[in-house]
Amino acid sequence: MKSLQKQEKFVGRSGLRREGPAKLCGLARYVDDLPLPGCLHGVTLRSSIPCGRIKGLRFDPAFAWDECVVVTAKDIPGKNVVALIEDDQPLLADGRVRHPQEPIALIAHLSRARAYEALKHVRVDYEPEEPVLTIEDSLAKKRLLHGADNVFKRFEIVKGDVDKALAESDVVVSGEYRVPHQEQAYIENNGMAAWVEKDGTLVVTGSLQCPYYVHKALMKAFGLPESKVRVVQATTGGGFGGKEEYPSMIAGHAALLALKSGKAVKIVYDRAEDMAATTKRHPAVVRHRTGLSKDGKLLAQDVEVVMDGGAYVTLSPVVLSRGTLHAAGPYECDHVRVRASVVATNTPPNGAFRGFGAPQTLFAVELHWEKISQSLGIDSLTLRRKNAFDLGSTTATGQKLSESVGARECLERAALRSGYAARRKRYDLWNKNPRNRTWRGAGLALVHHGAGFTGSGEVYLASKAGVELTRDGRVVVLAASTEIGQGTNTMFSQIAAETLGAPLDCVEVAGPDTGRVPNSGPTVASRTCMVVGALVRRACLQLKDELDRAGRGARDAAALRRAARLLCGREASRRFIVEYEPPPEVRWDDASYKGDAYGVYSYACCVADLEVDKATFEVRVLRLTTAQDIGKAINPLLAEGQIVGGTAQALGYALLENPVYKDGAMLNAQLTNYIIPTAPDTPPIDVELVERPYSRGPFGAKGVGELPMDVPAPAIAAAVFHATGLWVASLPITPECLCREFHDRF
Ligand code: MOS
Repeated sequence: MKSLQKQEKFVGRSGLRREGPAKLCGLARYVDDLPLPGCLHGVTLRSSIPCGRIKGLRFDPAFAWDECVVVTAKDIPGKNVVALIEDDQPLLADGRVRHPQEPIALIAHLSRARAYEALKHVRVDYEPEEPVLTIEDSLAKKRLLHGADNVFKRFEIVKGDVDKALAESDVVVSGEYRVPHQEQAYIENNGMAAWVEKDGTLVVTGSLQCPYYVHKALMKAFGLPESKVRVVQATTGGGFGGKEEYPSMIAGHAALLALKSGKAVKIVYDRAEDMAATTKRHPAVVRHRTGLSKDGKLLAQDVEVVMDGGAYVTLSPVVLSRGTLHAAGPYECDHVRVRASVVATNTPPNGAFRGFGAPQTLFAVELHWEKISQSLGIDSLTLRRKNAFDLGSTTATGQKLSESVGARECLERAALRSGYAARRKRYDLWNKNPRNRTWRGAGLALVHHGAGFTGSGEVYLASKAGVELTRDGRVVVLAASTEIGQGTNTMFSQIAAETLGAPLDCVEVAGPDTGRVPNSGPTVASRTCMVVGALVRRACLQLKDELDRAGRGARDAAALRRAARLLCGREASRRFIVEYEPPPEVRWDDASYKGDAYGVYSYACCVADLEVDKATFEVRVLRLTTAQDIGKAINPLLAEGQIVGGTAQALGYALLENPVYKDGAMLNAQLTNYIIPTAPDTPPIDVELVERPYSRGPFGAKGVGELPMDVPAPAIAAAVFHATGLWVASLPITPECLCREFHDRF
């Protein structure tokens, strides 16, 4: 078999990261590094209460306000909204605030320090109202914040007859699971710079994932046509979803100050402001009722999901959608019902975070297997073997899985590689010995993650991407997909060079700039490689066709230069732009929520080995073993990097990251007491790549961005349960939680 396959030259190899040297040498310019001579620094006056009417602003007459530029909602030339799914969130609060940290006014000054000083000289007079702070209060309609029931969005999946199947099951196992907010904790905080060109074009540049989201939001807020707004991504220090929607807000703010002052304006948040004011992962409560036969065959799944959306809709409907679609896990079951909703509270809006709703619901369904395992007396590995997706399985939405189903392979490889079964036995023996100072345990979880936008999402996006051959013989990839540290530039270069048969160093990737590149959609949803990478490949095939026809090929720089002169003629370049075409076999119905929710799924299994200190209840993860089916690793080193990073981020979610809220505001908005994993917290992470190619992905690739975030938390929770016998079904599993459980018990 193998010898018949064409050997790839660039794809499947771990070439160095494209922008690596510039970042290593400090040459890369983040927004805060951009030299903008004479620019002003903007700061934001924010609400200090969760909910109420603004009676007025009082400016201290003793302060030198003539040195400042001040902007309020009145200064917004277009619509006072951050345009997204529903236009309910104002760019600046006008008359009332709905959450702590809501932006009310903006101040700019030549000196950043003076701008912060100015903030202390404004008083906001409020008429506070009773806030709704929790999911429970929102559901109980303590006050109405949105519509007649506080529900931003609802989804329901119905397959078969769940009530009947539950009634006929040998056992029914119920459980409730809770997950908290989580902070994206990118290295670079949110920041944006803006200015107005002489011809009236509004330009913004900064840290962002989705240039065309910002572009659309600015057009609306400023009442400008497409051509008069230009959005350029600066070097971006991480996103993880946290720079998916929020940049539209901060870009709008910088632009308002720029417009009013006539100068360039930078707004760069410090860590405290970023953590307190910007989006987080949605907290959720998930309930399961699961019907099974005595021997562990899954018969019915009844799942209820409620997420906390915060004060405005932002991306909550799509986060909920992904959470809903993954709520039943990667298992074949004839009778499934998922009822999901996301509700309003007077807390800062929650938004995109790697996994996008799936880590929340997958935590529940995966940890629930441990509860089922207890009821049936069958190990959860065996239960998963009985029920996991295979080729030909049908998902909760009725999607028949016809290719690239690596669920079972991931399960077996991770179990084998970690020695899961043998270790469980060894830990059982260890735990019987009272002289040991720790308990030890091993836990396992298995997940799927749909790559690309849900259902008809990719059709609506109608993404465009392409490639350009310049007259001097360079190949330039054109896409709005951003490099945020995950490897977009390197991966696109490899796909283009491989497809063209061109040398890697003849290929470059254009920086995302709405004035130059087509809209290839947002850099989210594990879609960049699989969806946009496939577009890049298609465009390159068109270029290759032309090169071949010209009889020149692309094998080296000289051949490309000769070909370029022929193909470009008098033009500076030739562009080949292609648009997304939905695979004809994909069928999805938004109304019934039935059909092919995603073109394909990636799969991952994680085994956690850990020990718990019997005196302090601290959990020390000994190692994490993971096998992940991502179709094809275009760049194995970067793919593995994604998996290791996502795994560490999920370890934080499971054990460390404990956001504390009071009156709707995050109390520990700082990295000194909102703890994320550092090197000493992160055990060896052993990664095995599983490659079950997807026919529509470039070279077989599926998504890898979010998948690794989904699987470790339930594996760790299961391992804690195995080690201690203490059932903690809410994250994070802190020593305090375990201690409380232990003392309640004994
Ligand atoms: Mo994302 S969490 O789809 O940026």
